[in-house]
Amino acid sequence: MNKPIYNFFTKDHKRVDDLLAQATRNLPQIDMKCYDEFRIALLTHIKLEENLLFPTAKEANGGHPLPHFKRFRLEHGALTTLIAVYPTPDLIKVISHVLQKHDEAEEEPGGMYDVCEALTKEKTDEVLQKAKRVKPVPVHPPKKEAYVLEAAKRVLSRAGYDYEEILNLPLP
Ligand SMILES: [Fe+2]
Ligand SMILES: [Fe+2]
Repeated sequence: MNKPIYNFFTKDHKRVDDLLAQATRNLPQIDMKCYDEFRIALLTHIKLEENLLFPTAKEANGGHPLPHFKRFRLEHGALTTLIAVYPTPDLIKVISHVLQKHDEAEEEPGGMYDVCEALTKEKTDEVLQKAKRVKPVPVHPPKKEAYVLEAAKRVLSRAGYDYEEILNLPLP
């Protein structure tokens, strides 16, 4: 089956993942220039979902929010605050974990992208044209202050994840 919306967003997940992998290929060293590119790519991807894909799907759904909308929004918030923190190998492990779970839920059969694809099928070209024109989201330098990490942990827990618990998981 032809799934242009699914394909576009899934390909973008891969682009974001590849940038993160490249930035962290020599851990504990982190290539900060590459890490900034990852942050810009992730924020731009989130902007596309929050400002374009989800609202278009919601409108096509008679204005009713989609299933699990709340979950995705909370995870977007968690990822956004996590990437505002100056990265360490621990932080990278947490970001990678959340990103993987999040992307899987969007991509799985019958998941968020399939639901959006079906709802927006009259507007596929319009959505893709707008998506291709989106401007990259600028980023501020990540912050080393401890309160920034603490704030990110709280936002993460609101999304249903525990920072320390993720750190204790075996490496994939
Ligand atoms: Fe997302
Ligand atoms: Fe996504």
